[in-house]
Amino acid sequence: MSAPLLVAANRGPVSYAYDDDGRLVARRGGGGMVSGLVSALGGSDAVWVCAAMSQADREATRRGGLLTDGPVPVRMLDIDPDVFQRAYNEIANSTLWFVNHLLYDTPLQPRFDAAWRHQWDGYVAYNRAFAEALAGEAADGAQVMVQDYHLFLVPAMLRDLRPDVKIAHFTHTPWAPPDYFALLPDDVAVEILRGLAAADHVGFLCERWSKAYIACATRVLGDCDTSKVGVHALGVDPDDLRERSHRDDVETALAELRAEVGDCAVLVRVDRTELSKNNVRGILAFGELLREHPEHRERVVHVVFAYPSRQDLRVYRDYTTAVMAAAGAVNDEFGTDDWRPVLISVRDDYPRSLAAMRLADVLVVNPVRDGMNLVAKEGPVLSDAGVVLLLSRETGAAAELAGAALMLNPYDIEATAARMHEAITMDRGERGDRCARLVAAATALPPDRWFADQVAALR
Ligand code: F6P
Repeated sequence: MSAPLLVAANRGPVSYAYDDDGRLVARRGGGGMVSGLVSALGGSDAVWVCAAMSQADREATRRGGLLTDGPVPVRMLDIDPDVFQRAYNEIANSTLWFVNHLLYDTPLQPRFDAAWRHQWDGYVAYNRAFAEALAGEAADGAQVMVQDYHLFLVPAMLRDLRPDVKIAHFTHTPWAPPDYFALLPDDVAVEILRGLAAADHVGFLCERWSKAYIACATRVLGDCDTSKVGVHALGVDPDDLRERSHRDDVETALAELRAEVGDCAVLVRVDRTELSKNNVRGILAFGELLREHPEHRERVVHVVFAYPSRQDLRVYRDYTTAVMAAAGAVNDEFGTDDWRPVLISVRDDYPRSLAAMRLADVLVVNPVRDGMNLVAKEGPVLSDAGVVLLLSRETGAAAELAGAALMLNPYDIEATAARMHEAITMDRGERGDRCARLVAAATALPPDRWFADQVAALR
């Protein structure tokens, strides 16, 4: 059976693992893009095409047909593991992610040599596997919604195979400014931009990223059809979030957390340990706060969720170590027998992170660069008593939340510490007023609207 609506993304809405008895068990897929899309697709007749990311996923694909264990039927592609590794780890997460988040230590990186070119060939093959699967799955005139930097080449490849289908591409990351995008080998820059230019609609999370894309396309390809470029901000669904955050597992976690923090004010951050999230500078800023404002010692606690991500890559493992070391250093410098200033947890514990966001007095969101950052939107919606949001000006969310958040330069540790002090000492009235405005902005464009607007743009 062919589908009238297709979503293509590296990650699917479901992933597989082995239980203790070696049986396959299905789990919800992780990440902001997946949760936004799952919530948007509820009730539609879409099919989701994704990659098998583990041995268990690969085994699940051998059942044949569509996988129906998740919220949306899934066609999971068993791409050769070596091709997958080159495309996902080496190109998507080590090159394209680094370019669009400006993460390179440029005196030494990147290095585009013959070994890198071999990885790039893997990215091309992986994109081709998606394009062929989509061409085989799509009904006549189907709408195909391609997601993210893993699949930049798919629109052009699919257009060649199936001129009848309508193609949208959406980038969930920032887009690099032209001078930084120019780090890429010239032919690769052209291939990426031609890949996207073949789509009927090219979407971004905020105007800043769409303008950067237009500037790159204009410089590299000579022109850009701006009528095909759209901005679709992604917000949160307050009902879903509040319902989930009042279930028993979250209430239990909340009671435990309350017992741990006592009557201290609570600063919270919830991120993957990810270079763009700037976890290290955030923790250093908390140390600076305690140094500059001794009056906060034994009166505040920083609850840090830093669950590991992309641990196949050494640079991520090293960064995880640096995050742990930063938290340890603050605890060593300021901790007492009765007070541990940083409570860090590296386990991906969703109920506990929801509980922390309900309890937070201050939410710290300080990425060096981020496509949107949904935590910045979820935190105010989840807050029981009104939270102050500290928000990096380099996030996509800044475009919508700047008026009500306390904004910060993510590189400026001293200023971040000063913002933390301002947030902790803010009076209840101002805090409540700011939080109400944050909630209104965060919920203005829920995921179903975000998705429906892109589908409408294809018509
Ligand atoms: O920000 C882009 C993005 O695709 C998010 O939507 C998602 O949370 C994250 O990256 C996932 O990264 P990975 O699939 O490598 O864990």
